[in-house]
Amino acid sequence: MPVSSRLSRCRTVAFFLSLFICLFVVFVVSFVIPCPDRPESQRMWRIDYNAAVTYDFLAMEDINRDKIQDVVFLYKDTNSSNNASLSCADEGFSSPCAFVAAVSGANGSVLWERPVVQDVALVECTTPQPSDSKVSSACILVGRPGPFLAVSLSTGETLWSHPSSFGGNTSVLSPLLQVPDVDGDGASDLLILTQEGKEISGYIYSGSTGDQIGRRGSLGVGGDSGPLLHVTRTGAHYLLLPCASSLCSRSLKGLYEEVTGRGGPFKSDPRWENVLNASTHSLLPSSGAVRYLMNVPGKAGQDVLLVTSEACVLLDGQKLTPKWTLGIAQVLRKPILGHYKPDTPAVVIENGTGTDRQILLLGLSSGAVLWSQALPSFPGAPPTTSLPTADHRSAFFFWGLHELIGTNEMDPRDARHSLYMFHPTLPGVLLELANVSANIVAFDAVLFEPSRHAAYVLLTGPASSDVPGLVSMIKHKVRDLVPDSRVVHLGKGRRDSDQAIRDRFSWLRYRSEV
Ligand SMILES: *[C@@H]1O[C@H](CO)[C@@H](O)[C@H](O)[C@H]1NC(C)=O
Ligand SMILES: *[C@@H]1O[C@H](CO)[C@@H](O)[C@H](O)[C@H]1NC(C)=O
Ligand SMILES: *[C@@H]1O[C@H](CO)[C@@H](O)[C@H](O)[C@H]1NC(C)=O
Ligand SMILES: *[C@@H]1O[C@H](CO)[C@@H](O)[C@H](O)[C@H]1NC(C)=O
Ligand SMILES: *[C@@H]1O[C@H](CO)[C@@H](O)[C@H](O)[C@H]1NC(C)=O
Ligand SMILES: *[C@@H]1O[C@H](CO)[C@@H](O)[C@H](O)[C@H]1NC(C)=O
Ligand SMILES: *[C@@H]1O[C@H](CO)[C@@H](O)[C@H](O)[C@H]1NC(C)=O
Repeated sequence: MPVSSRLSRCRTVAFFLSLFICLFVVFVVSFVIPCPDRPESQRMWRIDYNAAVTYDFLAMEDINRDKIQDVVFLYKDTNSSNNASLSCADEGFSSPCAFVAAVSGANGSVLWERPVVQDVALVECTTPQPSDSKVSSACILVGRPGPFLAVSLSTGETLWSHPSSFGGNTSVLSPLLQVPDVDGDGASDLLILTQEGKEISGYIYSGSTGDQIGRRGSLGVGGDSGPLLHVTRTGAHYLLLPCASSLCSRSLKGLYEEVTGRGGPFKSDPRWENVLNASTHSLLPSSGAVRYLMNVPGKAGQDVLLVTSEACVLLDGQKLTPKWTLGIAQVLRKPILGHYKPDTPAVVIENGTGTDRQILLLGLSSGAVLWSQALPSFPGAPPTTSLPTADHRSAFFFWGLHELIGTNEMDPRDARHSLYMFHPTLPGVLLELANVSANIVAFDAVLFEPSRHAAYVLLTGPASSDVPGLVSMIKHKVRDLVPDSRVVHLGKGRRDSDQAIRDRFSWLRYRSEV
């Protein structure tokens, strides 16, 4: 037999053998090895508390490790709704008292709930920094009156609790700030600012035990609203806070040295020290009363967006020079971030309140108006939210009045409140997803599972904390609402049929936050 013919038969055998192995592997992978069980996520669920009040607070975390975000919220009731053996008296509170509840994002079943404080003055959840990932997420609560405690998000257990040492007329400024670990226990620590009269004080607490570190520090400025912890490009920490018609600042290094009487791990920045007035702590004099302060992503680190009574200003996070200024005076809500053009951060600004509200989408790097729309609002409307979509833009969720025109003739109490969805690829339409007449206490649009469908979470309840009533927590998948939604044409761009527009919204894919 010629060698070449034997070789070719060999080749044939090798070919069929490898083909067979390939097919076998395909068969095993696709039919024999079972797929991991994916828990079924219900499209909609709802839980009710019949005689309760609730708080403007929602937190999302995968508590039961089923890869679906779960929801944490607060309510005030006489005893827990589905477990009569859990009552306020068990924890030493009088009825009613405040409960923390964690419910499964998949089906709304209660994972844990327990009474934690008599009434809630402030609540904030901390996310573990990457370096202390062995520490679980916790929510810090300041009770009214006292205590000051941390609750584990995964189990609901109290991690630590201390009687609050703040005086009776002291209010705790929101938000609580997380500072780098100063007591060397591997967990980031807490900086709490309080206000009594005109004076603002700072207290540092250990994040893992809640013990106070050092003593009270005086910030030497007046003011009553949202502080911000900013890190300069040189790695120096500065506390920024609105003060009388200006922006004031204090280095964390200086505050830490005052509180503990010794040096700490913090740096100061020569440039900032030069600009800061040592006696008034003023950083930017005469910029108008500062209403909101937020960190925003910049080209080389974090910048600072300042909303004052006169303008919106983007400050360079290192040089403190304005990158742009938009003279707009009626901004009474904190801006939010999203993406209008792919991968280009944008900021949503609401100009005016009530029926005069106008929504502006600005490019963050230039301050240019990318989109604007009048959208009548209502008192107590939840803030706008955004969710990243797979095309590297964002979907935006706005609350507004159901009737976008002719609102004046209606009794505001009968007005229905509607949730509108907007996507930058369809700048000429808003989609009215849902409308409710109940009082909305908290709202969020959430991606419950990575790269899956978006859902919204709505917490409704009595408007007054003195009158208990029906409290409802509702989750709804956004895509299920699209077929019955109302398309609102804004008279811009080309006009597609309503069905074509609903299809576009149905096909939207979402992206996990990066
Ligand atoms: C009700 O709460 C008690 C006390 O925390 C607990 O032992 C019990 O398992 C709970 N029952 C249900 C059905 O959750
Ligand atoms: C829970 O509260 C309701 C309403 O106040 C009351 O009727 C019920 O008896 C309470 N249950 C327990 C076990 O205390
Ligand atoms: C809800 O889902 C959890 C898992 O996420 C499961 O353990 C539980 O049995 C479900 N409850 C109901 C009532 O379906
Ligand atoms: C709170 O402030 C009021 C009025 O300034 C004062 O009368 C009262 O004594 C203060 N209470 C406490 C506990 O400091
Ligand atoms: C700090 O501010 C005070 C009051 O506005 C002013 O009198 C003083 O000159 C300022 N100091 C510096 C170094 O700018
Ligand atoms: C903001 O609203 C005010 C009054 O409602 C209006 O005069 C002003 O033009 C608006 N600004 C912008 C930039 O649209
Ligand atoms: C809004 O409410 C009206 C009146 O209750 C109802 O007919 C309509 O279907 C609702 N629209 C949406 C999108 O839910």
